[in-house]
Amino acid sequence: MAKARTFYYCRECGYQSSSWLGKCPSCGKWNTFDEEVVQKETAGSKQKAKGSTMSTPKLIQHVMYSQTTRMPTYCAEFDRVLGGGIVPGSLLLIGGEPGIGKSTLLLQTALAMQDKRILYVSGEESEEQIKMRADRVVSAPTDIAGEQESTGCYVVSETSMEHIFEHIEAVQPDLVIVDSIQTVNTELIESGSGSISQIRECTTQFQRYAKESGVPVLLVGHITKDGTLAGPKVMEHIVDAVLQFEGDRNYGFRILRALKNRFGSTAEIGIFEMRGSGLSEVSNPSELLLAHRDEELSGTAVAATLEGGRPMFIEVQSLVSSAVYGTPQRNANGFDMRRMNMLLAVLEKRCGFKLGAKDVFLNMAGGMRVNDPALDLAVACSILSSNVDMPISPRLCFAAELGLSGEVRPVSRIEQRIGEADRLGFERIFVSKYDAKSIDRSRYHIQIVSVGVIEEAFRELFS
Ligand code: TYD
Ligand code: MG
Repeated sequence: MAKARTFYYCRECGYQSSSWLGKCPSCGKWNTFDEEVVQKETAGSKQKAKGSTMSTPKLIQHVMYSQTTRMPTYCAEFDRVLGGGIVPGSLLLIGGEPGIGKSTLLLQTALAMQDKRILYVSGEESEEQIKMRADRVVSAPTDIAGEQESTGCYVVSETSMEHIFEHIEAVQPDLVIVDSIQTVNTELIESGSGSISQIRECTTQFQRYAKESGVPVLLVGHITKDGTLAGPKVMEHIVDAVLQFEGDRNYGFRILRALKNRFGSTAEIGIFEMRGSGLSEVSNPSELLLAHRDEELSGTAVAATLEGGRPMFIEVQSLVSSAVYGTPQRNANGFDMRRMNMLLAVLEKRCGFKLGAKDVFLNMAGGMRVNDPALDLAVACSILSSNVDMPISPRLCFAAELGLSGEVRPVSRIEQRIGEADRLGFERIFVSKYDAKSIDRSRYHIQIVSVGVIEEAFRELFS
């Protein structure tokens, strides 16, 4: 007879305790413990588990694996993030805010993989809703040869773990998609679906299934308010790859990035655009976010950034105005606030920017969020431009980091950035003088302006 026991789990890190605690000894957060009733496995099932599989240690040079393994998704951007397709037997987790397009991406992928049998399990939508979405996305350019029946995509609306495995048994798919792991619940655990022990148990079950059968499983995971994947960190440890789908919901662009990938690089990103007919791939992101304006406006500067090895040119916009109230307002969209405050302090010290008396608003065009230090110089110059109300030419771009003492620092892969700026027809690019030394200027038409400190850039631009 199964025995029920109560455990307390930390919502933040999954720490387990037999009694309620105010502060988690593992992550130090307060008031994060939830009570959960866990049904203990019976002695019989334990024994079965013990005797099920036993592996023997092998010499590493004797371990064999087959070459032609990865399963292409027929979506170049998705494949790029995965590292060239889905590895058999892998368990992948895709996270993202609600409404960002996780279900759309996975359904489109399922429909595009026509040569495979796919089981799409949804705990959030009915079969009719899935079909409606499928009709909407297949009318898009990626046409599915006229009729739906030709695809091997089976859909089922289901939340019970045990039933899902029955469906898997019946369909014998090549790929399983579960949307979302938070809606799945197993009878083994008494607490409700979405609770930490449920998520952990179900993820572990899928992992076991994937490893034993060689069928990859894609899980959708919800994200909490503060941007972390809902559920304990343990889920991220269990899965082979954690992909994050992000973007500003008010804009069309979506970025898929790997936070963890056992089978590929985490530096690659996939870029998509959400249209009325689903997600479409964006293969040349560098030009996408440039407004191609003719008039010169103050407060705008173009940054030559790299995202996952791909150049992306972003328009940085800022607005500086006199603070009406005692405390000046600061706001940054798509840029780290603390970094902005640091840059403002550098500007105050080096360029006579009166920090305390100004409101500063910063915005990355297109709702992009980029974590490239090479944005610094463009951000600083756009703030200065708005402050003195003098425009920066739209045919000018920036690629350098700014140090605390106002020094303009070199950035990675400068040649690639300059090459792309040249290709896009920019006339001048501002780089660090330390980067400029190594550049072969004869290869480019673009004029390369090298600066050592921020004052030099300021003088060059506005005097
Ligand atoms: P969805 O995939 O349901 O998001 P998630 O599963 O991450 O919660 O995407 C929902 C949003 O995408 C919805 O707000 C509408 C938009 N959308 C389009 O703009 N075009 C489309 O073709 C589809 C299917 C959705
Ligand atoms: Mg969804």
